[in-house]
Amino acid sequence: MLLDEIPVKTATKNLYIETYGCAMNVSDSEIVASVMLESGFTAIDNEFDADVIFINTCSIREGAETKIWNRLTQLKHLKKKKPELLVGVLGCMAERLKTKLLEKEQLVDVVAGPDSYRDLPNLVMQAEDGNKAVNVLLSREETYAELSPIRLNSNGVTAFISIMRGCNNMCSFCVVPFTRGRERSRDAQSIVKEAQDLWNDGYKEVTLLGQNVDSYNHEGISFANLLEMTAQVSPTLRVRFSTSHPKDITDDVLHVIAKYNNICNYIHLPMQSGNSRILELMNRNYTREWYMDKVNRIREIIPGCGISTDVIVGFCGETEEEHQDSLSLMGWANFDFAYMYAYSERPGTLAARQFADDVSEADKARRLTEIILQQTRKSTEQNKRFIGKTVRVLVEGFSKKSKDDLMGRSDENIVTVFPKSNHKPGDYVNVLVEKTTTTSLIGQVV
Ligand code: SAM
Ligand code: SF4
Ligand code: F3S
Repeated sequence: MLLDEIPVKTATKNLYIETYGCAMNVSDSEIVASVMLESGFTAIDNEFDADVIFINTCSIREGAETKIWNRLTQLKHLKKKKPELLVGVLGCMAERLKTKLLEKEQLVDVVAGPDSYRDLPNLVMQAEDGNKAVNVLLSREETYAELSPIRLNSNGVTAFISIMRGCNNMCSFCVVPFTRGRERSRDAQSIVKEAQDLWNDGYKEVTLLGQNVDSYNHEGISFANLLEMTAQVSPTLRVRFSTSHPKDITDDVLHVIAKYNNICNYIHLPMQSGNSRILELMNRNYTREWYMDKVNRIREIIPGCGISTDVIVGFCGETEEEHQDSLSLMGWANFDFAYMYAYSERPGTLAARQFADDVSEADKARRLTEIILQQTRKSTEQNKRFIGKTVRVLVEGFSKKSKDDLMGRSDENIVTVFPKSNHKPGDYVNVLVEKTTTTSLIGQVV
């Protein structure tokens, strides 16, 4: 037997990935897993048995970064017990802080921005040799199109597909264009293939992801085209998407949603503010009236469509009257759901450079409470419209409260809970809604 034929038992190394932030980051962690598993790592679900820990981070608000600093402090204790453990900071915070992450904590070994994930095995190797390893280059081309994401923590029913990366919008409050770089769309065929592969693997729902899906464009294929191509994979593959920008969403997209039963009647349409002056300062490129027109158009073309939103209170210079405009627009729009935030200044953004963050923390907190209270009432009211109606639900798993009940989401993206009976994840069921809460519908399968 020749020497190089002697079987060598190479112990694989364990990788634990922890993900913070938005769905794009969840999707990116699946790409990271794909790259790392390809180079011999095994993904595990706990930090204690890990040889390498990656924290995929978010910078969207100060609080998001504070959370990660706290987590890094915890990991310091783990590293004390196990000095050979390598810790990598990935994602938006890595991109924003770059080598500062190495200076501030004597803990981080690898820093990798969102466009450098193919380089991770190499960066880990450098770190194993005792060198700090950093790659925060942003790319104009990288879409990781041909990589097959490893669906970590998957329920086997729903999956994300990234259709584009980066953002060209430069909303003045937002750090994303700085952490994720220029917008680029992924080749449509590779997206449809990923949807088809998921379908073949038993998945029943895909969510197409981008910071601004309506500006998707690849070799003349628009988002409306892509949505239609994905819906055609199978009539029983549900298709969702996020996020739509009010300035870019087109009637074409709305008509495609209306045409296909398997494209969910649900649109996440961040308004950010109900006041046109503030919207201009935010560089959102639409007015209150434009936003109202879009909501009307959605309800005209897709009757019963679920709509949710994002709102920021206390943006630079926001007066009490301007805050009232946000309350009144939210009241008018009847959103099913809203993600609501107090403005958090992000270093380097247009707003941080141009405007004073001059609404007091107390006013921000009060305004946030006001919109949350109003939206809670609205969501409760909105959900009541389903009582006595039947909704189609894709079963995702057990309900949070009881193993006797299952949960899934309605077409409009509302969590629906019903007795388990003999149903299982991946089934479609029709649920007659008997009662509702602020966040869910409860009923019986009919
Ligand atoms: N691309 C999407 C859009 O255009 O709406 C979402 C971007 S961001 C990941 C999600 C939400 O975070 C935003 O819609 C906004 O409401 C909020 N956000 C972003 N920057 C913020 C900041 N500096 N302070 C508070 N909230 C912020
Ligand atoms: Fe940020 Fe605006 Fe881009 Fe959304 S569209 S990611 S809010 S810059
Ligand atoms: Fe997402 Fe946070 Fe980055 S919201 S794009 S992970 S800053």
